[in-house]
Amino acid sequence: MKIIMLGAPGAGKGTQAIQIAEKYRIPHVSTGDLFRSNISNNTELGKEAKGYMDAGKLVPDELTVRMLFDRVSKDDCANGYVLDGFPRTIAQAEVLEAELAKRNDKIDYAIDVEVPDENIVKRMGGRRACVKCGATYHIEHVPPKQEGICDHCGSELVLRADDAPETVLKRLQVYHEQTQPLIDFYGSRNILHEIDGTQDMNQVFADIVKLLGE
Ligand code: AP5
Ligand code: MG
Repeated sequence: MKIIMLGAPGAGKGTQAIQIAEKYRIPHVSTGDLFRSNISNNTELGKEAKGYMDAGKLVPDELTVRMLFDRVSKDDCANGYVLDGFPRTIAQAEVLEAELAKRNDKIDYAIDVEVPDENIVKRMGGRRACVKCGATYHIEHVPPKQEGICDHCGSELVLRADDAPETVLKRLQVYHEQTQPLIDFYGSRNILHEIDGTQDMNQVFADIVKLLGE
């Protein structure tokens, strides 16, 4: 099963993708997490990506596509994956479609997690992310057991550099300009499914399971 998560920054793509990956036993592939891990390991790719990310802009397609295909060509992705944060431009979606078509393959579901902009800005200020494993929390909705410490790996939780309010607004603007057109793109492929992302996160997941099957 190959799934794409669509939605604005902070819509809950990562939160849902982690649960999908666990339930359906497929890897969770987040381009944002891959970039952040390159940044913390100080790689060339990380150095290039950082400036764009901190400014709330998209990393150029060429770099992003290369990194993504590197990841999905690994053995654990042979039976499918859930993509979180990719594609984010029509050009990325077209490359993905063409690469899959070469192998007689295609994306099965594009799940759009819908949340209006006003809810997003409120959510992001409360988000905390693990510096090591990327797990996300929310100071009100999903607090860690111990303040500032990741439940999974015990590392420190931080406010992401790009979650400052002015950067969130920039990311929303970039989303509307460059990523939202993907909703029509996947609608025209008849694989688009819209889910109400303003609900409690367990209800959002229940709606996704209804769609994908038990
Ligand atoms: P990326 O890491 O993908 O960030 P994003 O799309 O901006 O999305 P977020 O991770 O901020 O939000 P999310 O939807 O995953 O929400 P979450 O589940 O955490 O990308 C970062 C940057 O990398 C980009 O800006 C760009 O520069 C670069 N990049 C990445 N991919 C790229 C690409 N393909 N091309 C070019 N550049 C790329 O939830 C948010 C918060 O809300 C959490 O605190 C969570 O606990 C809480 N929450 C979740 N669901 C609910 C709910 N139902 N109710 C209440 N709270 C909730
Ligand atoms: Mg995310």
